[in-house]
Amino acid sequence: MASPGSVKLAPSILSADFTQLGAQAREAIRAGAEWLHVDVMDGHFVPNITIGPLIVEALRPLCNELGAWLDVHLMIEAPDRYLTDFARAGADIITVHVETCPHLHRTVQAIKDLGVKAGVTLNPATSLTTLEEILPFVDLVLIMSVNPGFGGQSYIPGSTAKIRRLRQMLDAIGSSAWLEVDGGIKLSNARAVVEAGATVLVAGSAIFKGESSIAENVAAFRTLLG
Ligand code: DX5
Ligand code: ZN
Repeated sequence: MASPGSVKLAPSILSADFTQLGAQAREAIRAGAEWLHVDVMDGHFVPNITIGPLIVEALRPLCNELGAWLDVHLMIEAPDRYLTDFARAGADIITVHVETCPHLHRTVQAIKDLGVKAGVTLNPATSLTTLEEILPFVDLVLIMSVNPGFGGQSYIPGSTAKIRRLRQMLDAIGSSAWLEVDGGIKLSNARAVVEAGATVLVAGSAIFKGESSIAENVAAFRTLLG
């Protein structure tokens, strides 16, 4: 289990008020979020259409000012076509779905060649065995604990065992890759997810549409995670 204070919080801006995106992102980072999670969707790989490089570019100066990272999650077909655009826009991490990358090793290498951290992710029903060969080469593995496409969904309970198995796989090869979990993360399940082996938590609706202010929601996660 990650030591207290070492778990990163990555608010997903998908749940933010886009008429106040800059102010809300600033509030989340200043309250203790280390990353901003940017959910890119194309309406093909997932049913929803969201945002693209323009938003990454718009948030880059704020992240430079406050020392936060832009954690870009590509839920799009054929992501190779857009790696350069997201790198140029200022992504610090680009995560691709194994389901969209027939040449995953080449895609991961292309992300790293752009000077960006490389992440891989998989849908809830996709087996961890699909990651076995690529695991030694990635900087981050993202476990989807909901079916990708929308914020505000409920955490799939079986995800916790999957997180635990992935933690064992990473430890077995001595990987220092971040283990990020994405979907339905709330104050009520965050500790169990970290105890299973997560080192980065994505939270969208819990931060931007939670019970309190954005700052108070972030602070509540910080208090819980140490
Ligand atoms: C789902 C996205 C998640 C989502 C998280 O497709 O990848 O990042 O926005 O939102 P919550 O935390 O509300 O489930
Ligand atoms: Zn995401």
